[in-house]
Amino acid sequence: MPGQNSQPDRPKVVAIVPAAGRGERLGSPVPKALVEVRDVSLLARAVSGLLDSGVVDAVVIAAPHDYYDEFVRVLAPFGGRCEVVVGGHDRSSSVRLALDSVPPGAYDVVLVHDAARAFAPGEVVRAVVNAVHGGAPATIPVLPVTDTVKVVDAAGVVTATQDRGVLRAVQTPQGFADAVIRAAHAAGFDAATDDAGLVEQLGENVSTVPGHPDAMKITTAFDLAIAEAVLAPKEEA
Ligand code: CTP
Ligand code: MG
Repeated sequence: MPGQNSQPDRPKVVAIVPAAGRGERLGSPVPKALVEVRDVSLLARAVSGLLDSGVVDAVVIAAPHDYYDEFVRVLAPFGGRCEVVVGGHDRSSSVRLALDSVPPGAYDVVLVHDAARAFAPGEVVRAVVNAVHGGAPATIPVLPVTDTVKVVDAAGVVTATQDRGVLRAVQTPQGFADAVIRAAHAAGFDAATDDAGLVEQLGENVSTVPGHPDAMKITTAFDLAIAEAVLAPKEEA
């Protein structure tokens, strides 16, 4: 009945979670997504963060082919809102395989969120969804760069210093209008390290929203130690 829907204008949102990497830089015996921080896997933390944001309807996870059954088991507590697919040989192909399992047009907004950014706060998820719902074809969370960044040649000799003021470090979830992310992945562009990079090659605008330090990507043992000591205790508080 009109007027009874408390969120009449809420878009339908699906989140794709590439989690099929090995985690070679972390050096753990299991894929990085299954590594636990205070007894909860990065995978479960990333998925619950998305669902708890209150704006995500469904999550599709790309798993390493030899850990498919284990991923299904870890995600069983989330019930029917999660689907697991087998991922690919690189991040882009894992995203593409997950996207292929989502019917075109079924959702208004498609998020892509690294399992390795398991502590991304709900406020970042909501800001990205709101920007795409507001008309942005693509939106990414970013932070100012705090280090000075230099360009070097093959011998390691500095050839330029970048203007740090115009640089941003990019996080996930990245958000896209459904048709835009599909066109970007169908175009056969060179592999990019993020999905917005493909959208840029399409010539579409990519806008930004403020990221958050807690959305850091867990790549190394040092990052995992930060998660154990700082991020997980914050979530448990
Ligand atoms: N990813 C994926 N499929 C791949 C490679 C990576 O789904 N074939 C995912 C990872 O699981 C991760 C995200 O992409 O959630 C970002 O990648 P990264 O942090 O590099 O993770 P890994 O590739 O697992 O780590 P490494 O590069 O150290 O092996
Ligand atoms: Mg990788």
